[in-house]
Amino acid sequence: MKLNLFERLMTNSRMRYFVQTRIEGPKLKSMASRERYPVCLELGTGAGGGARIIIGLFGAEKVVATDIDPAQIERAKKRLGPLYGDRVILKVEDALDLSGEPAGGYDAVFAFGVIHHTEDWRRALREIGRVLKPGGEYFFDELLKDFLASPLIKAATDHPQTGMFTAGEFTGYLAQIGLKPIRQWRWDGIWLLGSAMKEKG
Ligand SMILES: C[S@@+](CC[C@H](N)C(=O)[O-])C[C@H]1O[C@@H](n2cnc3c(N)ncnc32)[C@H](O)[C@@H]1O
Repeated sequence: MKLNLFERLMTNSRMRYFVQTRIEGPKLKSMASRERYPVCLELGTGAGGGARIIIGLFGAEKVVATDIDPAQIERAKKRLGPLYGDRVILKVEDALDLSGEPAGGYDAVFAFGVIHHTEDWRRALREIGRVLKPGGEYFFDELLKDFLASPLIKAATDHPQTGMFTAGEFTGYLAQIGLKPIRQWRWDGIWLLGSAMKEKG
């Protein structure tokens, strides 16, 4: 679902860009099993910081960067168009329905802080599994249920109850649908980053 005003301001801020590019990107890269991922999909790109990480750190030749909110896609286009041209394709798309993407079409899928905004986190993970190539990797970066349900965060933000999960629920479901968790970093109850690989056979 779309962000409320508070979270939209945070997401599009310089501080968010700093945290994403200086902390989250390098941390996820340290969990990668390969040097380069030529064709990548990013869900919920927001202001477009993720696509820059995917090209700069993960060596992508092509990135399809999507978001459910047309205003975010327009914002990302302004930032990324002059830098990368056709190398980054930006489009409005719901992470819960990736039927516009080819099955087994991507070397890696990225979602920075997105799955906990969807109304059905399990369905989003199944969609990711469908579009990954066998051996392809999913890089995740999510806030967790305890944090999202805390009174202050509940008052300031707007997250669907059906998008909330614990780290164990998230990684357990990944394994169940054939996305084997590889590496993780956790801040208990608050934050989860990691990588998972689609099984080959
Ligand atoms: C917290 S922001 C993160 C933005 C960016 N990835 C970042 O890390 O700065 C969540 C983004 O996910 C998008 N979003 C929310 N629900 C979505 C969905 N079902 N499908 C695709 N994008 C979604 C929002 O519009 C927003 O841009």
